[in-house]
Amino acid sequence: MKFKIVKLLAAAPVILAACAATQTPQERLLAHEKEIDKIIAGMSLEEKVEMLHGKSNMASEGIPRLGIQEIRYADGPFGIREENGAGFRPLGWTTDSATYFPTGSALAATWSEELAYKYGTGMGTEARRRGKDVILGPAINIQRLPVGGRTYEYFSEDPFLAARLAVGYIKGTQDAGTAVCVKHFALNNQETNRASVDVNIDERSFRELYLKPFEASIKEAGAWSVMSAYNKINGTYCPENEHLLNEILRGEWGFNGPVISDWGGTYSTVPSALHGLNVQMPGDNYFGQALIDSVKAGAVPESVIDLKVRELLRLRFTVEAIAPENCNKEVASTPESRRTAYEVASKAVVLLKNEGSILPIRKDVKKIAVIGRNAVALTQSGGVGAGVKSVYEITPLQGIKNKAPEGVEVAYAPAYKNYASLYGRASGGPDNAASLDEAPDPKLLAEAVAAAKGTDLVIFVCGTSKTIESEGFDRSNIKLPVGQDEIVKALAQVNPNIVSVIISGGPCDLQELTKYSPAIVEGWWNGLEGGNALADVLFGNIAPSGKLPFTFPIQFEDSPAYAMGNFPQKEDVGEDLFTSTFRKDITGGKDKWQNRKSPKAFYTEKLLVGYRWFDTKRKPVMYAFGHGLSYVDFEYGNISTDKSRYKPDGTIKVSFTLKNTGDMTADEIPQLYVRHLNAKVEYPYKELKAFSRVTLDAGQTKTVTLEVPVSELRYWDEAENGWKLEEGEIELLLGSASDDIRLSTKVTI
Ligand code: BGC
Repeated sequence: MKFKIVKLLAAAPVILAACAATQTPQERLLAHEKEIDKIIAGMSLEEKVEMLHGKSNMASEGIPRLGIQEIRYADGPFGIREENGAGFRPLGWTTDSATYFPTGSALAATWSEELAYKYGTGMGTEARRRGKDVILGPAINIQRLPVGGRTYEYFSEDPFLAARLAVGYIKGTQDAGTAVCVKHFALNNQETNRASVDVNIDERSFRELYLKPFEASIKEAGAWSVMSAYNKINGTYCPENEHLLNEILRGEWGFNGPVISDWGGTYSTVPSALHGLNVQMPGDNYFGQALIDSVKAGAVPESVIDLKVRELLRLRFTVEAIAPENCNKEVASTPESRRTAYEVASKAVVLLKNEGSILPIRKDVKKIAVIGRNAVALTQSGGVGAGVKSVYEITPLQGIKNKAPEGVEVAYAPAYKNYASLYGRASGGPDNAASLDEAPDPKLLAEAVAAAKGTDLVIFVCGTSKTIESEGFDRSNIKLPVGQDEIVKALAQVNPNIVSVIISGGPCDLQELTKYSPAIVEGWWNGLEGGNALADVLFGNIAPSGKLPFTFPIQFEDSPAYAMGNFPQKEDVGEDLFTSTFRKDITGGKDKWQNRKSPKAFYTEKLLVGYRWFDTKRKPVMYAFGHGLSYVDFEYGNISTDKSRYKPDGTIKVSFTLKNTGDMTADEIPQLYVRHLNAKVEYPYKELKAFSRVTLDAGQTKTVTLEVPVSELRYWDEAENGWKLEEGEIELLLGSASDDIRLSTKVTI
């Protein structure tokens, strides 16, 4: 007996160390349970409920009596948003600017978890300097529709890519001491009717596609809070959805933190209280007196309120509160963040096409005409919540001027009008186009043609804007707006050397543009250093290395939801919840929100979203998922696997050699897709399961190994309501893009 005790004691430190090492990221929230027990025991019901709703637009209450500070939230996701007041209008402070990081789809185009981590670190650090506890982001919904208003905020049409970026972003932010609030949980894949739409979905697609990035955010990255989405899922609103919040998020994934409603997205008292929502943001009409009354009437047990307070206090204790006098003392933006913003931007630019190697810009180019208003347009704000007052912003034109070699002349002409709108309503005005399909203004067009004539190179900066792609509504198509197709055609008649740069968050229809542009570049809304990054790529100071995180279809009508007749929805309820709730000045006060119908959005394309659809249906696209050219070529060789058969708990290791055959340093992103052969279960043609960003000097060869845990190849079995592995042969397809597979091999699982 004695011996046993001695043995146990000796083993104790080892056991403790093992516990710390095996602590899941979610367990970090549980370090203060005893303290929290005591606090809750001493709180009145009123005091508890005070914590469960908005104290202001961007804060929920702490426990002032105990000196426990309020929780301060900040949009997110790509810069710490400026302070706002009534109607979310900026307060005009001078100390609340921050770093504008590239937006979601741009970050995603880097295909780099490491860069996402650095990005998160920057966001988390700046949030601390602004006194913010929680970043309302990352926004990680699957980009289901090419027209989706929030495509630019979201990462990808692919759940694996979105998950890797989300994990990087979250770890970076939380390691810097700020909580994330992963959003929008779940299925906020369209803005049309976003707060009344009832998403009708099968469990398998839900699990395999739409929940995957969220699952990784909770289980792998340990996100400390989650934002419920506005919409319904299979008949029930997300903030009161037992299956979503209590069964999956808390039950299956082990989430220990609070769920915060999207802004204005709480719709009930008792169902929301019972089924998993912690905080109504902002306002208190459901989670204020009504909640107190519901507890007193016995409709909501006080233990449920206690648990909500506990989950919030876990967050409060995990994130250090910053006293008001210690924040906003200086501008939040740091040099490191700005360097990260540049690095991300430079690796996000995607070279879509480069006929005749017109890029990089040749040394004998002496006169450049930069055409298009997007060359000077700022992209830091707009799009409703996801904006930031940036410390500065280098536009494409400024970047080109900064980086142009000495002696190179750079002229500029706007060519097209601005398209101004507020929450989707065109605002008109003499300098603004009245509609998106308005023909080019003859005077602006003539000036642009004159500027292009006789120059060595035209850089046509086209694309959309944050008044065209925005939260609150979807685009009606993906056509280039305000006559850009006609403009590029006219430019080509006087100068065929055209490099078109698309500045957008989502895909555009390039059918016309491509006829007149030997080179096309996707330049994104690429943060405060976006112009410099773009110009470094154009002039060849660095090789382009971004890859598309979503498909560019030939036209919107080819996309799965459209082709299946699932989108656009026949019924559009019109007004957006956010404007109806907070901007009655815009809606004219006609708020009938609670009486809205809930049109159903059917997801009958199931797993065939994005490239899964185009691949499986063998439909051509303009640019495929994962596409992105370089100034060098890469040679793939010697593919091998470490075994030929794998057990269900095994990991497939795929090795190959990758050579940069060009004459400059460049990054390549090898992508590994898996295809099930002779399967009984139906799968998309192939699915992304691993990738890596590899830097290679001129002429350098590296051996690269990509790993795929066999468990990642399971499917969701609806009959058994669980993950299941179908054994059999699979093909591993390795390539430079989803439509550029270079090598393949087969193994058995
Ligand atoms: C958006 C959220 C955002 C919130 C606060 C909502 O309209 O959907 O993503 O964080 O507003 O600005």
